[in-house]
Amino acid sequence: ALDIMKLRAETGAITLDPGYKNTGSCESAITFLDGEEGILRYRGYSIEELAEKADFLEVAYLLIFGELPNKIQLQKFNTDILDQSIVNEDMKTVLHGFPDSAHPMGVLSSLTSALTAFNPKSVNVESEEDMYKAIVKILAKFPVLAAWTLRKKNNQTLFNKDTNIGYVESLLKMMFQEGSKNYKPNKVVVNALDKLLILHADHEQNCSTSTVRIVGSSHAGLFASISAGVSALWGPLHGGANQAVIEMLEEIKADGGDTSKFIAKAKDKDDPFRLMGFGHRVYKNFDPRAKIIKKAADEVLGQLGVEDPILEIAKGLEKAALEDQYFIDRKLYPNVDFYSGIIYRAMGIPTEMFTVMFAVGRLPGWIAQWREMRLRKEPIGRPRQVYIGETHRKFKEIENR
Ligand code: ACO
Repeated sequence: ALDIMKLRAETGAITLDPGYKNTGSCESAITFLDGEEGILRYRGYSIEELAEKADFLEVAYLLIFGELPNKIQLQKFNTDILDQSIVNEDMKTVLHGFPDSAHPMGVLSSLTSALTAFNPKSVNVESEEDMYKAIVKILAKFPVLAAWTLRKKNNQTLFNKDTNIGYVESLLKMMFQEGSKNYKPNKVVVNALDKLLILHADHEQNCSTSTVRIVGSSHAGLFASISAGVSALWGPLHGGANQAVIEMLEEIKADGGDTSKFIAKAKDKDDPFRLMGFGHRVYKNFDPRAKIIKKAADEVLGQLGVEDPILEIAKGLEKAALEDQYFIDRKLYPNVDFYSGIIYRAMGIPTEMFTVMFAVGRLPGWIAQWREMRLRKEPIGRPRQVYIGETHRKFKEIENR
């Protein structure tokens, strides 16, 4: 292997790679991705098979611990999570300090960080046992916080987790329950969300995951690291794209539905507009997740009896872009976010909550990557730079400036 430290010592060289387009930050055994072929596998299992046959909690276990759980392991994992599902009542005071207009991602990031204050023992985790305790805590409480960001926005009562139903079903119940305790989320919606969360569960060293690893590399606790991941995911170039896609499709619809005008805008280098939900740093082929989601969008809308003109606009836009030389030359294909927003809409999830759903899905991946980083005793993340500023200047007194 190339000894970078030795090379640097001998040549004084630093690799300059803005955006880390070609720089590996770690060795990892969690997610395999082949962007040229459009292949994605968690711990060696194909995403297509997992989305079809596994449920979200099984996939979370697989990502974090490396193996599919047997029945006993899964039951214990589930029980350990349920045991931790109560969120400290004082967290509600933190939540209510935000204006209703606050974006749910900002609130979620803050609440996740605040969890540290209410669970101080989860910070300095060195042993695997302590790591496990912190992991089940965040898996238990994060969906509660996610649901609360919506309830707070709508000025509704906050609920705790219903411990008699599944992980994804209880998330939906906490989000949408009205009146009766017997409220049951629609099965079609539960299954579709389960699948979507699996598809979002990990994606190797993307922006938010790298953020989680780098924050965790200073031995800041798991919750602080996850909170930083939520902030990174929020941006429209990353997870925030799912919200941006719907806003773009709505704009196209309001404008009369002519996609060619927007394709032309996206190609114009003087116009900052980009086709949201298109392009990917590593996929130079169809994002395999987008394929599954496109099919699921058709099924879910059919099963729920929802007719959404936006779906037709999305399909038209995809077709036009795939036939356009600009997009062909740059290998720009629809990514995971292109169709996910359409399903979320059909499920009745408000646009501002789309990225929160993504965060709930990505949580196991962030945890798995953080755990791997800590178990491998990786050094603190600290990139170098090439300095291009003034080299040495004489100080000028303020009167002389
Ligand atoms: N619309 C129009 N042009 C695009 C788009 C787009 N969506 N994406 C990339 N391009 C063009 C760039 O302008 C550039 O053109 P050039 O070579 O003529 O300068 C070329 O394609 C390469 O693009 P880069 O920006 O260098 O690619 P990078 O890997 O840095 O960016 C990114 C990837 C951020 C995903 C980009 O494609 C983008 O902004 N897409 C839209 C936002 C989006 O959908 N993000 C979600 C990504 S998936 C996820 O995070 C879950």
